[in-house]
Amino acid sequence: MALSARAQAEHGCFYLALAGGSTPQALYRLLASDEYREQVDWSRVEVFFGDERYVGPDHPDSNYRMARETMLAHLPIPPGQIHPLDTQQEVRHAAAAYARLLQQRLPQNEQGPVFDLVLLGMGDDGHTASLFPRTCILHDERLAAAVYVEKFKAWRLSLTYRTLNNAGQVWLLVAGANKAAVIGELQAGRGEGYPVAALRPQGELNWFVDRAALGGGAAP
Ligand code: 6PG
Repeated sequence: MALSARAQAEHGCFYLALAGGSTPQALYRLLASDEYREQVDWSRVEVFFGDERYVGPDHPDSNYRMARETMLAHLPIPPGQIHPLDTQQEVRHAAAAYARLLQQRLPQNEQGPVFDLVLLGMGDDGHTASLFPRTCILHDERLAAAVYVEKFKAWRLSLTYRTLNNAGQVWLLVAGANKAAVIGELQAGRGEGYPVAALRPQGELNWFVDRAALGGGAAP
């Protein structure tokens, strides 16, 4: 993957944040397949997570477990370069610890840690990572934060806009007819209320939207 090679040439390592949920699973399996595995120097990749459900690493809802099973367990990434969020400690402490880790491991600019690539999904309410509508994390200036999501009656951990928008590239992976209403609103310029609409990375924002989510239109 050219992006990883460019990052590794520029600053020695490719700093990647993975998306959770179900949409990216096909991509993760592809990256771990015989056809693609050799196209990346995985020994110089550092893997982080855009967000995590506040559950154990082996829980069926864990994004880390999903990424481990679909991709990470099948790639030669040094274990010390895979950084799940630590959901075994108190949730706010876990967020603060992750923010410190980002400051220790990633290249920095005046805004903070700089990812080369952040993969994100979008929910049918226009959330991305765990930046849900009408939650306080949308205004959080820290690098990562804990957020209680009423609709799930559950805590989550997430990178904030400050970190997401400081990335070199953000790729939004959106699939499924249940996303078509939000995509349609975004295309019509009426999407400003959705958390996903506030993604403005310093570099590129690329949308990868399947036909079902496009509802027959063109990408936003
Ligand atoms: C999560 C994700 C979340 C996800 C969207 C879309 O932890 O669930 O980070 O932001 O990307 O909810 O989920 P699907 O890909 O399952 O539709």
